[in-house]
Amino acid sequence: MTGLQVEGLTAAYDRLQVLHGIDLEVAQGQIVAVIGANGVGKTTLLRSVSGLLRPRSGRVQLNGEEISSASAEQIARQGLAHVPENRLVFPSLSVDDNLSLGGWTTRKDGHYEERRTHALALFPRLADRINLSAGSLSGGEQQMLAMARALMAAPSVIVLDEPSLGLAPRLVGEIVGTLARLRDEQQLAVLLVEQNIRAAFRVADYVLVMDRGVVVAEGSPAELADDARVRAAYLGGDSTSSGSIVAPDPSPTTPATKNSQESR
Ligand SMILES: Nc1ncnc2c1ncn2[C@@H]1O[C@H](COP(=O)(O)OP(=O)(O)OP(=O)(O)O)[C@@H](O)[C@H]1O
Ligand SMILES: [Mg+2]
Repeated sequence: MTGLQVEGLTAAYDRLQVLHGIDLEVAQGQIVAVIGANGVGKTTLLRSVSGLLRPRSGRVQLNGEEISSASAEQIARQGLAHVPENRLVFPSLSVDDNLSLGGWTTRKDGHYEERRTHALALFPRLADRINLSAGSLSGGEQQMLAMARALMAAPSVIVLDEPSLGLAPRLVGEIVGTLARLRDEQQLAVLLVEQNIRAAFRVADYVLVMDRGVVVAEGSPAELADDARVRAAYLGGDSTSSGSIVAPDPSPTTPATKNSQESR
């Protein structure tokens, strides 16, 4: 079995239980999006999958191997890359040094240069800025660097926490387009947490809607397009208004709560 399987996952911070039994599956060559309002546990889900937070119970399998009690480093070595919320690049290091840190676990396999070339081909803006400090990049470029850095570890599964956050629509399109390429060209399994529901619905093969630590709806983007629970996730609990929020929009705006526009 390849890809990522999660079964009955629960997680807590001390006595605050945040995840109450999550089931999901991401196959190779598939993008699964998780959407939901602020604080429902999306980041906690990704942290539990990638070993940054030890699950309380449940199973997480990566390419058929149980990883729910493995360390984050072990999980990374087994092929899961986590692109965290807010990017978290090393600001004082150059773009190139950030990439080389991403390639640390796989540095001895003889394919470092190949992967670096590939990552820079995917994100040509990074190639133009290879010796600049990561902190001098725009928000969109830092997101690209965070993704490129994750790819340097040669993952088979990549999990991303709100990569579109704060980016102008054009950049969101670029990021999402790159995810589609990674799925289609490299058969990556992609687990994407997004509050930009339009972006998520545009690229995902399957969507899960979370509310307070559980999955309250799931299906293909087409199946969920008019679902009131999607609207509730988007509006943070108010599912009374009508109309699809994911229908094509000639001038898309980035939804939500904590997005500021970034257009450099
Ligand atoms: N390190 C922590 N310690 C204690 N509680 C935490 C911690 N991180 C998150 N929480 C709590 O867990 C719950 C879920 O948080 P989480 O960050 O997973 O939500 P989220 O869906 O990612 O939200 P957002 O959309 O704002 O990023 C929240 O109630 C939050 O306050
Ligand atoms: Mg979060």
